[in-house]
Amino acid sequence: MMTLDIAPAGAHSPTWTDGIACIIYSHCTSCHNPSGIAPFSLMSYNDVYQNRFSIAASVQARSMPPFPANQEKRQYAHANTLSQHEIDEIVDWVAGFAPLGNSSQIPTPPTYSSAYQIQSPDFVGQIPAYTITSNQDVYRMFVIPVNNVAQQSIQSVEVYPGNREIVHHALVFQDTSSIPFNLDQNDPLPGYSAFGGTGSQTSKLLTVFTPGQGAFSFAPGFGAPMLPNSFLVVQMHYPGGVVGQVDSTQVRIRYGPSNLRNVTTISALNHGLTLTNGPLFIPADSVKTFYSQVAVNSNRTLTGIMPHMHLIGRSVKAFCVPPSGDTIHLIDIPNWDFHWQYFYQFQKPVLLPAGSVVYGEATYDNTSGNPNNPNNPPQNVALGEGTGDEMFLIYFNLSTYLPGDTSIVIDTASHYTHNASCTQAAAFDEVETNLWTVFPNPTRQFLVVQGLESDFEAVLYDSGGRVALRRKLQCSESLDLHSLPAGIYYLQIRSSRGACRYFKVIRE
Ligand code: HEC
Repeated sequence: MMTLDIAPAGAHSPTWTDGIACIIYSHCTSCHNPSGIAPFSLMSYNDVYQNRFSIAASVQARSMPPFPANQEKRQYAHANTLSQHEIDEIVDWVAGFAPLGNSSQIPTPPTYSSAYQIQSPDFVGQIPAYTITSNQDVYRMFVIPVNNVAQQSIQSVEVYPGNREIVHHALVFQDTSSIPFNLDQNDPLPGYSAFGGTGSQTSKLLTVFTPGQGAFSFAPGFGAPMLPNSFLVVQMHYPGGVVGQVDSTQVRIRYGPSNLRNVTTISALNHGLTLTNGPLFIPADSVKTFYSQVAVNSNRTLTGIMPHMHLIGRSVKAFCVPPSGDTIHLIDIPNWDFHWQYFYQFQKPVLLPAGSVVYGEATYDNTSGNPNNPNNPPQNVALGEGTGDEMFLIYFNLSTYLPGDTSIVIDTASHYTHNASCTQAAAFDEVETNLWTVFPNPTRQFLVVQGLESDFEAVLYDSGGRVALRRKLQCSESLDLHSLPAGIYYLQIRSSRGACRYFKVIRE
């Protein structure tokens, strides 16, 4: 019979020097650096060592790096996700006591340049210096007049954060009405407060910025029209706990040649006209799924897609059913995360054939079991633009289809570009640890471990990395945590076959 050794004999054990540093420097430190948006730095071996259990738990849960779209059926351009091989390497390293390796060959950490990506922009606008006045999450709109006389075609947009530590995201809209401008004028401080839309019906979403991302470019050959005398309306999100900090973010735009094909950004699937089981209303203590559908009358080229919900959104997806042939998967976000909303661009544009129907499905969890529910006890939630309201929008970047569109390359790399020359394994394999779960979590006493088919070893580490509990258990036996102080723990489960998984566990 096999023994439950901590590091099974003969197992490959990665080291920081040989493998792990490269993964962290390629996938994590763009945000986890001393002046990045992430709450702690991962630039050195010591930083990573200290956070090793939460790193293992978050990469196995695929919550870090933050890229919520499932990529099994559809891969996206510029997607910062780890391959299963990279996740396994991190887990093996943590389980093998996180060795440094050859100390004479420690890789050099990357440096993050503050250079602009759009070096010679056609338009630069900057929001006025704004001092954060609250320790809650702040959502604020700023209005920048473009003063363009002629219509232009926007090829790329760079949102250049004034303060990278506090810019959690930015939505860039354009508008030709003066409504946002007047709202801004009527507020004594720079900008105006707005969680949802800009307050104007004619505002059009142009792009979305999330940290770690560079300039946004439309697919080659496409551009978004900037109508004469437009305003840019920029919604900044600053996270809680940053009161007193100052930001003054720039928006830099490059126009393309006048023959760029128009991309229109519309909420093709939405909580208004296309909802089939509306109105959008989620009673307290319920989980509800809403369905939306829209017909495609003529061939359309779709280059990107962006779902939008608020805090109690649980999952969202969209797919296209053509008149003949297989379903075309567009987006599937199994664990909606309000804080990580991307405008997902496809690797190559997708054809939505004439006669298709595009479907959207969004599920909302308005129970107290949803840790993101802003109300405890839950309250009825209806459609609206406030934090406590909900929305169901799926934006499409659409154009008229021309033959050859689906061969245009936006980014077909099978894996995110690495910072250094470490191995880039791509495939997503189903691994047995994906089926393991622990519940209830948080817990007061018992923790049930499910999904293992054999005996296993459980080691519980406290947040300082000390062993709090170690048990050998039969499958689906539970752990008793009642003698431990309340706090955050990391549970290491190792099956008798040597597979290993980490979970963040909260003892209430
Ligand atoms: C796009 C920016 C970004 C990237 C890339 C990123 N992180 Fe994070 N990370 C964050 C932010 C911001 C937080 C704070 C929580 C949040 O906002 O989701 C965070 C939180 C964490 C946490 C704490 C989670 C917890 O449970 O408290 C861990 C661990 C972590 N990141 C590890 C990683 C690792 C490992 C990588 C690379 C494999 C990575 N992150 C890549 C931005 C990023």
